[in-house]
Amino acid sequence: MKKYIIANWKSNKNLSEVAFWLNNFPNEPESLQVLHGLEIILAPPYPFLVSAQEIIEERHLPIKLAVQDLSAFGKGAYTGEVSAFNLQDLDIQYAILGHSERRRFLKESDQLIADKIAEALSWHIKPILCLDKPNFASQARFLSRQILPKLFLAYEPVTAIGSGQAEDAHNLSLIKKELYSIYQVKTLIYGGSVNAANVGSFLQVCDGVLLGGASLELSDFVNLLFTASESLIQL
Ligand code: PGA
Repeated sequence: MKKYIIANWKSNKNLSEVAFWLNNFPNEPESLQVLHGLEIILAPPYPFLVSAQEIIEERHLPIKLAVQDLSAFGKGAYTGEVSAFNLQDLDIQYAILGHSERRRFLKESDQLIADKIAEALSWHIKPILCLDKPNFASQARFLSRQILPKLFLAYEPVTAIGSGQAEDAHNLSLIKKELYSIYQVKTLIYGGSVNAANVGSFLQVCDGVLLGGASLELSDFVNLLFTASESLIQL
């Protein structure tokens, strides 16, 4: 099973920075060989998805695309929303949904996030549902039993995001059990101050990591990918 490394750029980067990052991502056979055990997923800001996809295809990069959010509505009169219908000719395989920044700044509710999950699934986009402890049980109440096994869960303690205070990797085994008892989901991702120094410890317990800050500088990110790959050899 591959380990998931998810890069969420949030509202960072402009078009030339996106192009620079992707045009310099290593694609020589030796690097691709090393990165083989990783599923690398990139969530750029919406306006750059098309350019990102073009560069990924042109350079044969081992990178899948995700969106950072998705409208709960379909095609139609929903000004400012980006629907799954709008994305259908792009190769978007994942959607990060319910990130704590959206719950906090955009006041997204458990119900709205559940609607977004349903919309993503109906377009075969895999939802990566972000949760912190206060949402564990409340979010689950809005999700049907049939939907639960189709999710990836990203445990993202708000206090760990962008703070440099990552969760203790040992606590994650307990969190994993707790989440499994509610969601019966097998794929658990951890997010919050993951960096090259701690990524290996998280990959021992989880199926992947979600990165914000550590994904912005290409050199940091590539360093983290190689460290992550090395840590898999020891598993
Ligand atoms: P961070 O962000 O890696 O900058 O802590 C993680 C996240 O928001 O998922």
